[in-house]
Amino acid sequence: MLNIAVLVSGGGTNLQALLDAQARGEIPEGKISVVVASKPGVFALERAEKAGVEALVVARKDYPDTGAFCDALREALQARGIGLVVLAGFLSILNGDFIRAYENKIINIHPSLIPSFCGKGFYGLKVHEEALERGVKVTGATVHFVNEGADEGPIILQKAVAIQEGDTPELLQKRVMEEAEWKLLPQAVALFCAGKLKVEGRRVHIV
Ligand code: GAR
Repeated sequence: MLNIAVLVSGGGTNLQALLDAQARGEIPEGKISVVVASKPGVFALERAEKAGVEALVVARKDYPDTGAFCDALREALQARGIGLVVLAGFLSILNGDFIRAYENKIINIHPSLIPSFCGKGFYGLKVHEEALERGVKVTGATVHFVNEGADEGPIILQKAVAIQEGDTPELLQKRVMEEAEWKLLPQAVALFCAGKLKVEGRRVHIV
């Protein structure tokens, strides 16, 4: 059984999708062992507690710099024997030391079809604002491994979502979550835990 840590900074609907998938038995080879928030008081922590999962705060503001914050995070995860780190709306920056310590063991969910609308500054609602502004007809979500580039790691799964007439950033965000994010993330986690993801250069093969 692989121990999973889910890192969050906000509402945690993707965390909820993972907890629900686990409760339905859809992640048989993994266990969500801890939820770590980068700030106190976020709703994701309540979701963790309600599901009986340890809820931990490692607050970015308690550390002088990214290095000290990432070291604290790494210690917390190593103490719990974590084998997979899931970023589910986690907004703090992870440094190279952290990423190298968990090479191809960190998964992120991004609310667009990478390489569109991604990279530095693209998170949350901003991604959907830019997609609507650009006038694309199709957007979606991407689950990928995290490397040292912003949203540049190997892509695991993607799902397209059609733009509709009258979409606002909020409506589009909700539809991308419902139709893509909440399905893709648990699927990718289950595949990882089952040892079915093989990384070869920038490509991920599902074996
Ligand atoms: C999700 O839409 C996720 O894809 C996005 O933040 C939201 C978090 O919502 N992540 C990014 O934009 C990363 N660049 P949640 O807290 O309800 O899961």
